[in-house]
Amino acid sequence: MMQSGAKGKVAIVTGSTKGIGRAVAEALLEGGARVVVSARTQADVAAAGEELGRVHPGWVLARPCDVRREDQVADLFAEADRAFGGVDLLVNNAGVGRFKNLEDMSLAEWNTILETNLTGAFLCSRAAIPRMRRRGGGYIFNISSLAGKNAFPSATAYNASKFGLNGLSEALMQEIRHDGIKVSTIMPGSVSTHFNEGAPGPGEEWKLQPRDIARVIVDLLNHDPRSLPSCVEIRPSRPPKR
Ligand SMILES: NC(=O)c1ccc[n+]([C@@H]2O[C@H](COP(=O)([O-])OP(=O)(O)OC[C@H]3O[C@@H](n4cnc5c(N)ncnc54)[C@H](OP(=O)(O)O)[C@@H]3O)[C@@H](O)[C@H]2O)c1
Repeated sequence: MMQSGAKGKVAIVTGSTKGIGRAVAEALLEGGARVVVSARTQADVAAAGEELGRVHPGWVLARPCDVRREDQVADLFAEADRAFGGVDLLVNNAGVGRFKNLEDMSLAEWNTILETNLTGAFLCSRAAIPRMRRRGGGYIFNISSLAGKNAFPSATAYNASKFGLNGLSEALMQEIRHDGIKVSTIMPGSVSTHFNEGAPGPGEEWKLQPRDIARVIVDLLNHDPRSLPSCVEIRPSRPPKR
């Protein structure tokens, strides 16, 4: 059997109480990593910590963190240092989408999307890099979207955030690969989650499942240190025909 690239590592997964982030946290725990689980909603964070900690006692730290807040991001990483001695893996997953025409969008809605999907990845990556460098390397996964390269109406803010994240991710990959820190951009198509006030359930059978995205991360962690698959597109194999 192939060695798990997650084994013995410490991971921070943002937005990991549900959806893709939750599946990634579960897969990394199963692969032998210690995992910091976080999101904004305190009750969900406590529940996720309890549920995951029951299966993996002592390997889960659950803390609320809004990735838009510099102070909360700093606290989250400091807690990971205290609990687990540092950070090897960061999954910038926290993200939101609101879809409406630009002329109908408030500045607050625009800011929420840009600050969560783009500034959040900046703040968390900036906190992670020196810690990873101290440990001789690391891996940052940015959960972007096919909306990071394909524009569509009503998605101006979401497109801007994910096109921006792709740019951040690719530039950062070139900046820090010489330090043994890999950066990969993952661009999923439709995944059955709570995204955009959705609810996984009937009618969504054609969509990707969160565990499909988690599997990409596990697979990337198993690549040889010399190889860096810096960008992965993943989409449902049989979407409804238009
Ligand atoms: N679902 C799709 O079809 C799809 C496709 C392509 C890409 N993606 C991307 O995948 C990522 C995960 O989305 P998902 O589909 O799993 O959505 P989801 O089920 O709605 O989960 C989003 C998670 O992010 C957290 N979150 C939201 N805002 C946050 C903030 N400011 N700080 C920290 N955590 C925050 C949420 O918890 P709280 O609300 O409690 O904070 C939740 O845990 C996003 O970046 C999204 O853009 C999704």
